Amino acid sequence: MLRDLLNRGPRRDLVELITPRKTFADVILPDKTRRALADTLVQIEKHHLIFGSWGLGERHTTGTGLIFNFAGPPGTGKTICAEAVANLLGRRLYKVRYSELESCWAGETGKNIVAVFREARQQDAVLFFDEADSIASRRFTAMSLGYEREANQAVNILLKELEYYDGVVIFATNLCANFDPAFERRVRTHILFEMPGVHERELIWKAQLHPTKTPLAGDVDFRALAEEFAVSGGDVKNAVLKAAQIAAGEEGQDHRKRIAQRHFRQAMQDVLGAKKVMDQSLFGEALGQDTGAMMLTALQGIETRLHALEAESESLRPQLATVRQEVSIVLEGISGRVDAAQRELGDTRRALAEEMSGLRGALDERLLALSAHVDARLRGATLLRLPRWAAATTGAALLLGAALAGHLLW
Ligand SMILES: Nc1ncnc2c1ncn2[C@@H]1O[C@H](COP(=O)(O)OP(=O)(O)O)[C@@H](O)[C@H]1O
Ligand SMILES: [Mg+2]
Repeated sequence: MLRDLLNRGPRRDLVELITPRKTFADVILPDKTRRALADTLVQIEKHHLIFGSWGLGERHTTGTGLIFNFAGPPGTGKTICAEAVANLLGRRLYKVRYSELESCWAGETGKNIVAVFREARQQDAVLFFDEADSIASRRFTAMSLGYEREANQAVNILLKELEYYDGVVIFATNLCANFDPAFERRVRTHILFEMPGVHERELIWKAQLHPTKTPLAGDVDFRALAEEFAVSGGDVKNAVLKAAQIAAGEEGQDHRKRIAQRHFRQAMQDVLGAKKVMDQSLFGEALGQDTGAMMLTALQGIETRLHALEAESESLRPQLATVRQEVSIVLEGISGRVDAAQRELGDTRRALAEEMSGLRGALDERLLALSAHVDARLRGATLLRLPRWAAATTGAALLLGAALAGHLLW
């Protein structure tokens, strides 16, 4: 199922099954970090002895996982160490970029977290959550309320999976402050990846080159580079690759080309310059020359911004509730008024219909009356004409009658 996901678009780079090649021989660490890592490896190796043979796994069924947090600034070797751990255990590394996973799998994050654990279990892989700051401190990169809710839910699912996962899980985080207690409880050991000192930096410079094939000019002095540039291993790696590019790109025959001190110096200045531009565009002008201070300022900048965002989203919450309430009141009002208007319209229609029918009745009556009147008038006109004619007739008849009567009397 997860393979389906892997084959779909950008998700491929969110989850990666790596066959580890890096070993602890490739990593140069400050003593403290190295000791802490060695202790971690013992915990992993003896896990079966303690929780299997010694029966403690039966007494304690949860919270016994091998969960480690590699904490430190970028480029201090957290990722290669996770690879080296997997290599040493003879397992593959199942790498999840949680920050991407969280934003790209919106709506499906929880489901996919479950799938990630299932797959890692089946592969018996070392599960590695890279860039996992948002899990560790429950901070979310996007700030919509829906998103935050979902991300919170995803972290809860993840914490639950961790509770029951019996394999090795490694987190890599950059910010160490403000750990979520629920996450803290599950982490067995925090291993601090500090910035390398001069001695480590010198070895890191050398470790970035091929022991025999990389052509170096006679003036190369890694100690001097290590002293001049207080940078992370990641920066050294970038500078070495850049120096090789600069040297290879120069005029002349390839087999005569060498990487010289000036190439390394220029490359490192370019790397730092590029970083500074990026940091400044992100965090303004407040950066010192020293990389450690730069890093700290950058981290503090991120923290301050996240705090501000959190506070802002918190303060917006009541406002949002009020607006929601207001909108619902307005909507209610509008729908009430629409109802009333509709009722009114109905009433008006009915009244009009009644009035019309009343008018029609009255009109009919008037018409009837009028026609009766006309009839009557017509009849009246006939009667009026008769008397003239009848009067003459009647007068004659009377006269004749009287004459007849008088004649008879006489
Ligand atoms: N301590 C180190 N020893 C050797 N190489 C290192 C060390 N730290 C960083 N590097 C180099 O820098 C690269 C990036 O380091 P990475 O492990 O990704 O750092 P992080 O995960 O802490 O950001 C590595 O691949 C490696 O080449
Ligand atoms: Mg990394």
